[in-house]
Amino acid sequence: MTETEKGCDFTELKEWCLAIPKIELHAHLNGCIRDSTLLELAEVLGERGEIVFDDVKHVINKYGRTLTECFQLFDLFHILATDHETISRITKEAVEDFAAENVVYLELRTTPKNNETKGMTKRSYLKAVINGLRSVESVNVSFINPNGRTESFYDPLQKGGLTVLEKKRIYVRLLLSIDRRETTAAAMETVSLALEMRELGVVGIDLSGNPIVGEWNSFFPALKYAKEMGLPITLHCGEVANKKEIQAMLDFCPERIGHACFLEDDDWEKAILLKIPIEICLTSNLRTERLSSIDLHHFGKLFKAKHPLVLCTDDTGLFSTSLSNEYHLAATTFGLDKESILQLSTNAIHYVFADNELKKTLREIFQAYDKRLVDDFSL
Ligand code: IMP
Ligand code: ZN
Repeated sequence: MTETEKGCDFTELKEWCLAIPKIELHAHLNGCIRDSTLLELAEVLGERGEIVFDDVKHVINKYGRTLTECFQLFDLFHILATDHETISRITKEAVEDFAAENVVYLELRTTPKNNETKGMTKRSYLKAVINGLRSVESVNVSFINPNGRTESFYDPLQKGGLTVLEKKRIYVRLLLSIDRRETTAAAMETVSLALEMRELGVVGIDLSGNPIVGEWNSFFPALKYAKEMGLPITLHCGEVANKKEIQAMLDFCPERIGHACFLEDDDWEKAILLKIPIEICLTSNLRTERLSSIDLHHFGKLFKAKHPLVLCTDDTGLFSTSLSNEYHLAATTFGLDKESILQLSTNAIHYVFADNELKKTLREIFQAYDKRLVDDFSL
């Protein structure tokens, strides 16, 4: 019997999913831009005659996009958010939005971009992202100082960021994405940058972009180099049916994979044997028509098999979702009780790319929340 059937109120469960501490491991910066910010940016560009605002407004407001339309929209996002100031702004807003959702640890991924006309290099793009992290004031953002030490906002009275008197705290780390459209040299440049920026909170590499574009062989050298240098890797894997690439990706043994919608039985055998954690993005998979109905999602069978899983949003802005919404969707679709939901969110600690010291801190945050629940029940 599901929590809902047991009489647990739908809204109450939704609020509970919002209140619990959560970990977000698959979020693309430009996919998280607030609609209000996108419209504001589009209006300014429209006034300058760089775009036709009405056309853009129509695309931004459209609900239910095909995969191709999603990637067209990303191209539009990249036109709207091309200068350093805007990159810093959308980073700041994304972090604020995740913190408001009680996300206590965020691995934010983004594709460093070169844009000569704006004087932007991959390095300056990344610096703008880091400036965005620094500019957040409404919540305490813990990232890494230039000296490589984690900034500590640790306050035992405010464990878990749960009191309302103090500011919330969110730990943020960055993943640099290689876009499948990029050349091998550009992908290599991103890995070198990630290595250089490790001390500033870059903890890994992601491979993403339009899944019907690009060849595994062209990304492989950069991914191999990252692996040799000890950078953890997550791959968008099996977003479309591409048996050869899925096999190559699994043979590469990445630390995590995202989506995994089109794995066949023998691929699953391998993924399960290798215990590769899967980043599950339910709404994203549904909206991009990877499956006809949410209850058919592979989350159900993987959850039953106790395979390492983490619920994620992918693109909160693009898919109008939030992490608490993803937890609520999983709970109501697959009949998870509160204990299972909390266990799912706690388990994510095992799969973060941050160091053991931070994992320990995250464990303390979740334990403090657990203890508070027990205390509440004993009242
Ligand atoms: P950015 O890396 O901050 O620019 O975030 C947007 C980018 O993330 C897009 O241009 C894609 O390359 C990538 N991305 C976002 N969502 C998806 C997805 O569902 N599949 C593959 N790539 C994605
Ligand atoms: Zn993604």
